[in-house]
Amino acid sequence: MTPSYTLRPMTTDDIPQVLQIDHVSFTTPWSARTYEFEINNRDSSHLVVVEAAGANALRTDGWRGLAARLRSSGPPAFEIAGYGGCWLIAGEAHISTIAVAPDFRGRGLGELLLAAMLRRSLSLASEYSVLEVRASNLTAQALYQKYHYQVVGRRRGYYRDDGEDALLMEVRPLNDAYRRELDARLAELRERLNYADLFTGAER
Ligand SMILES: CC(C)(COP(=O)(O)OP(=O)(O)OC[C@H]1O[C@@H](n2cnc3c(N)ncnc32)[C@H](O)[C@@H]1OP(=O)(O)O)[C@@H](O)C(=O)NCCC(=O)NCCS
Repeated sequence: MTPSYTLRPMTTDDIPQVLQIDHVSFTTPWSARTYEFEINNRDSSHLVVVEAAGANALRTDGWRGLAARLRSSGPPAFEIAGYGGCWLIAGEAHISTIAVAPDFRGRGLGELLLAAMLRRSLSLASEYSVLEVRASNLTAQALYQKYHYQVVGRRRGYYRDDGEDALLMEVRPLNDAYRRELDARLAELRERLNYADLFTGAER
């Protein structure tokens, strides 16, 4: 069966679509140059996109989906639905970014991106994972808690645009038991989302 979604490493060709999602998701989005730098910094930086295939991309909800259907003379090859990034350094997997396009939220794709980054981190011998999240971003915190991240600190005035605090969240250890749970969650998501995996490097 043709996959509805594909997880794969981000390339420089993806940057324009990624920037669009970034701009509607964050008050201080990354620049195209930052993405280029991160994509080329393959040793430590791992960026992933999830793309929605053909007809599935056209099934986008809301006005944007309607406009796409009216404009289209045929289904697009794919549409980037979300992306994420992590830095893997000395046993630490630092989630640097994660976002899903508004029309695609609430379907499990944010969870898929996070689980995939953690699975790849485990394959590459990460021992724990950390991230910063806005104190007010309860949606993202719920996602991280689902993957057993706990608040381990608070960085006062961390966000330069408005001085909001960041919560520092961490999950450890990323051990065999955690890998088994991740694999089970990824298997459930595969049933639900029918995705192809060109990113995690996990054996299936
Ligand atoms: C955070 C984000 C990536 C989640 O993506 P998503 O695809 O909508 O999330 P999913 O559908 O995979 O949901 C996974 C889990 O996230 C949490 N979650 C998602 N939407 C939620 C909501 N509206 N309210 C509360 N929790 C929510 C839940 O724990 C959910 O698990 P559940 O389905 O078992 O309840 C997305 O909301 C987003 O792009 N936000 C803007 C960017 C951002 O804040 N990034 C995080 C920066 S630290």
